[in-house]
Amino acid sequence: MYNIAVIPGDGTGPEVVQEGLKVLKAVAKIYKFDYQVEMFDFGGERYLKNKELVGEKDIEKLKAYSAIYLGAIGHPQVKPGILEQGILLKIRFGLDQYINLRPVKLYNRDFCPLKNKVESDVDFVVVRENSEGLYKGMGEFKNKGTKDELALQLSYNTRKGVERCVRYAFEYTKKRNKKKNLTLCGKTNVLTYAWDLWQRVFDELAKEYSDVTTDYAHVDATTMWFVKNPEWFDVIVTDNMFGDIITDLGAMIQGGMGIAAGGNINPEGVSMFEPIGGSAPKYTGKNVINPLAAICALGMMLEIIGEDAAGQSVEQAVIKVVKNNLKSLGAGKMGHSTTEVGDMVVENLA
Ligand code: IPM
Ligand code: MN
Repeated sequence: MYNIAVIPGDGTGPEVVQEGLKVLKAVAKIYKFDYQVEMFDFGGERYLKNKELVGEKDIEKLKAYSAIYLGAIGHPQVKPGILEQGILLKIRFGLDQYINLRPVKLYNRDFCPLKNKVESDVDFVVVRENSEGLYKGMGEFKNKGTKDELALQLSYNTRKGVERCVRYAFEYTKKRNKKKNLTLCGKTNVLTYAWDLWQRVFDELAKEYSDVTTDYAHVDATTMWFVKNPEWFDVIVTDNMFGDIITDLGAMIQGGMGIAAGGNINPEGVSMFEPIGGSAPKYTGKNVINPLAAICALGMMLEIIGEDAAGQSVEQAVIKVVKNNLKSLGAGKMGHSTTEVGDMVVENLA
């Protein structure tokens, strides 16, 4: 029996989560597993009502679940940063979800903005460190508001934090069993403290994984290669900030935010799965948003909690719908409504 904490969140979050839960219900029946869901109302509406975000008690409560399924966080009436810090990052840090796993996989070449690239050319995974770096929020102002103001924002990289992330990436590359190549994406030529540590840890661990080949790319060059030669990549490991940036580009080359999913993973604890895109206020309540990213996130969740076959069945059903039924992956352009797309995934489950 799995206990799933569901956070529909803001904007189109509830609409896409509803489709994900529809698919969960159907796939659980086919693969014969039991689950319960419990809804959590974290998000902009609740914050506007009573100023509540996610507290320590909530984090403790979330520790009891098999996994967390999240829609979207972000509200046009709440100042940017408050909900992101107070809900999304609070959960990632509070549950020590130190890996952000973001597959970049093209399901239909017609939806790729790159010329002459086919499905097999865009098929890699970004392992983003998810608990340190610039996201740690360390820094300070000096002489705030004056002409001599200084704003410091520190990148925090511990040996242990880097090592657990890089080790996860090596293990993942081995298990993925494709090219068996792991790329370290960094900026060793300028950020000479952080990336010196990353490079040393990477080189040390590479010796333990003789069956995995390795290379290195600067983050700026990585963005160039995503566009020029995405087929070079198998698994990429990088820090929190660079991972954030390159995975938005990754989402574009796999067909857009409508299909991009991610997992915030604590391999020893509770993980959280989410579509990468935001709350899309302008599409809210119109039944036009693409639910496939949320459905792919559900598939990832199933694989990580141990329902591999069910997870793969969800991904295969999504691939069929993307190949056979949709005109576009963009909101309002799919040729079908949000709920119809969810229904089509259910029909294609094997
Ligand atoms: C993401 C998002 C978040 C991040 C924001 C909303 C805090 O952009 O999940 O990539 O920067 O990690
Ligand atoms: Mn991002």
